[in-house]
Amino acid sequence: MVVAGFLRLTLSSLLLGIMTHGTVAFDMLSNENLAVYWGQNSYGAINPDNTAHWQQTLSYYCKDNVIDTFPIAFLVDSYAEGNLPSIDLANICNSGNADYFPGTGLLNCSFLASDIEMCQSAGKAVTISLGGGSGNIHFQNDAQAAAYAKTIWNLFLGGTSKTRPFGSAILDGIDMDIEGGSQTGYVSFLTALRKLMNRSKKKYYITAAPQCPYPDGYIGKTLNTVGFDAVYVQFYNNYCGLKHYNNRNDWNFATWDKWAKNVSPNRDVKVYIGAPASSAAGSGYVNSKQMTTIIQQTRSNYSSFGGVMLWDVSDAHANHRYDKAVKQALKSHP
Ligand SMILES: *[C@@H]1O[C@H](CO)[C@@H](O)[C@H](O)[C@H]1NC(C)=O
Ligand SMILES: *[C@@H]1O[C@H](CO)[C@@H](O)[C@H](O)[C@H]1NC(C)=O
Ligand SMILES: *[C@@H]1O[C@H](CO)[C@@H](O)[C@H](O)[C@H]1NC(C)=O
Repeated sequence: MVVAGFLRLTLSSLLLGIMTHGTVAFDMLSNENLAVYWGQNSYGAINPDNTAHWQQTLSYYCKDNVIDTFPIAFLVDSYAEGNLPSIDLANICNSGNADYFPGTGLLNCSFLASDIEMCQSAGKAVTISLGGGSGNIHFQNDAQAAAYAKTIWNLFLGGTSKTRPFGSAILDGIDMDIEGGSQTGYVSFLTALRKLMNRSKKKYYITAAPQCPYPDGYIGKTLNTVGFDAVYVQFYNNYCGLKHYNNRNDWNFATWDKWAKNVSPNRDVKVYIGAPASSAAGSGYVNSKQMTTIIQQTRSNYSSFGGVMLWDVSDAHANHRYDKAVKQALKSHP
């Protein structure tokens, strides 16, 4: 009891300390944002035997002013057992260390509520990312998709449900990392979700993580029809990625900037440079010195630039805090 009380005191003075030292609320319109995926333990997936750098619980990564927003990876399946989605958070929340809500395939990770809330009170936005490399986010038709907006709202955002995977924590929005399937119903789902978000006083965000080839085959039509707040374009694993920065016919940030200003229903949509956080995390990794140059040139050429997205936080930490170097580049305006 004494120990717990002491810990709580330390935690709240730490939080107070952060806040009185100028916590800035998350600002989607900034051009210095760093978004880093958390949840999949990418480092551990690549190095299963070297547990030294395995993914930590979310609040571990919220103790400094480096990362601004965390999409939680992933809500993998739109409909699992019990007609509810399933989520997978690798080593942090899995069937070995958490229970499924009875009659569903949905893990009860409500022990993460305080973690999420701590990050939010440090000025960071936390969202749930739908999809991923093996994701299965699909709808039969528009009516089903529109109804699903209510499910997401109730499970993760401002609604209520007995089966909220993160308990009392109210996430700040959703991310669509769609890498397969068809777009049937997506417009209807996101329009209905935005309607629910718009009715609330709290600010919610909808982002997407398309691959850099334009237009994106899995989310492109949706991007052209629904107003997104930001796109975390994956400039890796593709000819148009960071590795090809010096070949202006390949590296295609210009195309995405043009999309933002001429096609996107939200003309203020922010375009992020999505990048691997280590050479193991994806083909297309560039070191922090090259990344600094790319960030600064891209920002000065393209006003849609919103920041950088990294995959993922475990890789960034294992790679000599690559996230810190990137944030430093984002903060400096030479
Ligand atoms: C979810 O898990 C928490 C413990 O982490 C427990 O208190 C709660 O009752 C569980 N909720 C349901 C609906 O099973
Ligand atoms: C939500 O609000 C924004 C900004 O006020 C508006 O542009 C958009 O049309 C609204 N969307 C829906 C689906 O109500
Ligand atoms: C952007 O600006 C830099 C100079 O700051 C220039 O070297 C580069 O070629 C420009 N173009 C693109 C596509 O980034």
